[in-house]
Amino acid sequence: MTDRYAVIGNPVGHSKSPRIHALFAKQTGQDISYEAIQAPADGFAETIRAFIASKGGPGRGVNVTVPFKEDAFRLATQRSARAEAAGAVNTLSFDAGAIVGDNTDGAGLVRDLKNNLGCDPAGRRILLLGAGGAARGVILPLLLEGPAELVIANRTEEKAARLALEFARLPACAVGVKPDGAGFAGIAGRTFDLVINATSSGLSDSEMPLPGSVFAPRCVAYEMVYGRDTPFMKQARASGARVADGLGMLVEQAAEAFFVWRDVRPHTAPVLAALKQA
Ligand code: ATR
Repeated sequence: MTDRYAVIGNPVGHSKSPRIHALFAKQTGQDISYEAIQAPADGFAETIRAFIASKGGPGRGVNVTVPFKEDAFRLATQRSARAEAAGAVNTLSFDAGAIVGDNTDGAGLVRDLKNNLGCDPAGRRILLLGAGGAARGVILPLLLEGPAELVIANRTEEKAARLALEFARLPACAVGVKPDGAGFAGIAGRTFDLVINATSSGLSDSEMPLPGSVFAPRCVAYEMVYGRDTPFMKQARASGARVADGLGMLVEQAAEAFFVWRDVRPHTAPVLAALKQA
């Protein structure tokens, strides 16, 4: 019987994941199905249990999107180190009664930077904007790449300071650079080679009080939101930065999840090209 996978969210109708995974399955010859399932706001665990037990074929795994990544973290009976660090799970695998939680978002960002954008985080001065779930999910994978520095800057400074301290204390970060926390005023006059917007400001089209000085010459400015030209992207472009949106991260985190489930790594370039064309 065909192995079943799904993306669970609320809302989930806009999700590109079914298309991405269908393209991966076709390319790699894997016999899987992949659907989008909307779970009720208070019904994530029930939706997962029903999916695992459904008669339509064995439910092997799901991707988890807004607002259920913390629910998925709690539901998992085992978690990867990167899921533990992120405090959130975007990939669940169901195996002999176990619910295994992973987080592929940070790996997806790092792969997009390195493989698609030619921007290796190693040795770079990185500024990460935001201190919510999206920022938290990428801190450990970025630190493990060996940047020259990682500054977490947030509108609410205390949240950035707390997050930086938490990661500085992680055993996995014992060697290498420790993250710093700051408010936006605290980064005025400082310059970075890679600036990543992990705030949700792009979703509301709102401006950020970001000092223009942060973009070094030949800086890469990465917006995690995709499908719109956000105020951050406009500001970065006006400051001479090379600008990328989060579509590549979306495809790469999906490829990493596909690899976790199927032990096969799909080629992402043709899938990214197909999505860009659409
Ligand atoms: P997510 O899971 O997408 O990270 P979140 O946990 O609600 O969402 O966090 C949203 C992040 O975007 C926060 O860092 C928030 O800053 P505050 O902690 O100060 O609220 C940031 N954010 C949202 N809109 C912003 C704006 N217009 N300017 C600056 N930061 C913004």
